[in-house]
Amino acid sequence: MTSTTPQNAPFGSILTDVMAVATFKDGQWSAPALRAVGPIEIHPAAHVLHYASECFEGFKAYKWADGSVHVFRMARHFERFRNSARSLELPEPAEALLAEMVNTVIDRCRAAVPDAPGALYLRPMLIGTMPNIGAAATPSNEAMLIVLASPVWDYFAGGLKPLRIYVEEQATRCASHLGVVKTGGNYAAALGPTLAARREHKADQVLFAPHGEVQETGAANFLLLRDGHILTRSLDPTFLNGVTRHSVLTMAADMGYRIEERVFSVDEMIEWVATGEAVLSGTAAVLSGVGTLVRHGGTEIKVGGGIIGPNTLKLRSALMAIQQGTAPDRYGWLHKV
Ligand code: PLP
Ligand code: COI
Repeated sequence: MTSTTPQNAPFGSILTDVMAVATFKDGQWSAPALRAVGPIEIHPAAHVLHYASECFEGFKAYKWADGSVHVFRMARHFERFRNSARSLELPEPAEALLAEMVNTVIDRCRAAVPDAPGALYLRPMLIGTMPNIGAAATPSNEAMLIVLASPVWDYFAGGLKPLRIYVEEQATRCASHLGVVKTGGNYAAALGPTLAARREHKADQVLFAPHGEVQETGAANFLLLRDGHILTRSLDPTFLNGVTRHSVLTMAADMGYRIEERVFSVDEMIEWVATGEAVLSGTAAVLSGVGTLVRHGGTEIKVGGGIIGPNTLKLRSALMAIQQGTAPDRYGWLHKV
């Protein structure tokens, strides 16, 4: 039996002791309160429980070698969170409210921020709480906003092990206009295909490529890498506009990579990986290298030599160096709490 120390606990399974909570009622937000993490009370007729009015964010705070704590690209995550709230017709929390809640939680949980390569994962979530089971076509005029925090290490068990990815060429991850929205229903929708791929092909994740066009995986964006060149799908509403994706493309352009953002096919991806690399990019995934692609029917394609490639390692290290304060923050992506 292996023991579950925090370092090998599954991602997100440990929470800090406190959370920040604010509620929206009668057209305004309450002052945020810090509470012990524990059950919340909502009405069984709450909008979220029937009509899935929910969105969330995920980003990290890093402890540097000198003990100071720094949050990565919080403003950009808040912008996406507010866009998600608007898309779902939920009350939109102001950036200042979100910042106050997140900064307070981090400050109170400072001792729980792990040393590198761990991080404190911040999870703001917004739910529609209006009690009305008839409100399928009516937005929730009440809401609850909560900020949770979780000490995390690797998202994929096994650390830097090359991933095995099932390529789904038929099903979509979610409704085509909602990919860009970080809403829980999208993850529920992807669960069936993800579990089937795990069961049938021992896949770590599914790469969605509806109509043969490569999109993203269930919980991360997807990039093709080779020396001096990156290819990834151009942004559109069908998939999440990842902050890690944007960060990697920005850094890589400055490192001399040619960045190509356009629609590309599964066939083109397969040609690329004969010699090139493929990665998942995301807050949780960081940059995780793909070792094997599995197609419908079980055909396996090795990516590069089936090992983590040099461009994956180079870009991953460059990103982590900024996050962990060992390289200068040239882009102003971090703020100290
Ligand atoms: N795509 C999906 C579906 C995700 O869940 C995530 C994770 O947040 C990403 C992409 C990557 O986004 P980010 O880099 O902003 O974490
Ligand atoms: C993130 O990277 O923040 C994600 O959303 C992944 C998560 C679903 C665990």
